[in-house]
Amino acid sequence: MKILVTGGCGYIGAHTIVDLLENGFEVICIDDNSRSGTGLLRGAETIGGCSVPHYRVNLCNFEDTYRVFTQHPQISGIIHFAAYKSVPESVANPLLYYRNNLQSLVNLLQCVQEFRVPYFVFSSSCSVYGNAVHLPVTEETPLQKAESPYGNTKQIGEEIIADVARTSKDNFILLRYFNPVGAHPSGLIGELQETPENLVPLITQTAIGKRPALTVFGNDYPTRDGSCLRDYIHVMDIANAHTKALQYLLEQKNTSNYEVFNLGSGNGVTVLEAIAAFEQVSGVALNYVIGPRRAGDVVAIYANNQKAAHLLGWHPRYSLADMMRTAWQWELKLKASEAE
Ligand code: WQD
Repeated sequence: MKILVTGGCGYIGAHTIVDLLENGFEVICIDDNSRSGTGLLRGAETIGGCSVPHYRVNLCNFEDTYRVFTQHPQISGIIHFAAYKSVPESVANPLLYYRNNLQSLVNLLQCVQEFRVPYFVFSSSCSVYGNAVHLPVTEETPLQKAESPYGNTKQIGEEIIADVARTSKDNFILLRYFNPVGAHPSGLIGELQETPENLVPLITQTAIGKRPALTVFGNDYPTRDGSCLRDYIHVMDIANAHTKALQYLLEQKNTSNYEVFNLGSGNGVTVLEAIAAFEQVSGVALNYVIGPRRAGDVVAIYANNQKAAHLLGWHPRYSLADMMRTAWQWELKLKASEAE
């Protein structure tokens, strides 16, 4: 089974390629490398023991995208990761996000129609829930107005797919990620961001001395310790969910051709608890200060992940300690390679 992974040079894409290869899938990758190099893809090939043809194509260019499908008419499934994902960048430059994230999706869906690709898995986000009233959120929890143009591109993307699925015989699954963190246990791949915005890479960069201190964005929230609560999930668990989603479709277990799944651990963890978990695992006392709240942050969100457990047979295997341990191992590996 040949699977096209878009954005396969990125953090979640490369980890998913590892899981696909380990489960016997053949993989090709489209990635324009506008936000990543090829290092993670090469690392995924090393871990998975297979080469992955890489087409450096911008999905916003329909002709270039179409040409890849003509070279691979037997693509059985698509996992679509390629998108810009910075919340603050999307606020500063909304049109860049609407054009990139939506035009690429429309072009890809046009190819799905023309080449009759039967299975399509879309990378969505828990940001579609906004500040949910009831926790944990299920897939039926009403969506709130997106907090950012980035989150809005995910909501609109889901609606575009829903409209296409309504008159299509092809099958679509949306996976709503909570907070993917950590790295492959081999230490060969992980999150590569010079100036990350997300909590865990900022923790590890602070701990290794790349940053003087971490700022906790507010400790006056109505949570058990005043800091925001999130659902952190290991990137390899997220990766495995994509393989399980494809297998679910291949085995025609889906009852609708448009299904949504939450991908979270089901556990809520506060920022201060995440810091404590990191300190416990690394033995490093993290230098952090309490700062003002960050605009756009939701107070608390975590997943009810039972639908993916029951229907996909997906059960997260990595603990919060594993997430912190692998993230720290990766940061140490990066430092060692920079020293070479
Ligand atoms: C987590 C918590 C911060 C940095 C974002 C996107 C979401 C998804 C995942 C793509 C929050 C706090 C962070 C820091 C801090 N991305 N924090 N100090 O905002 O939950 O979700 O990434 O799909 O769409 O919005 O993740 O890691 O940025 O923040 O206190 O220096 O850590 O306030 O409570 P977030 P995050």
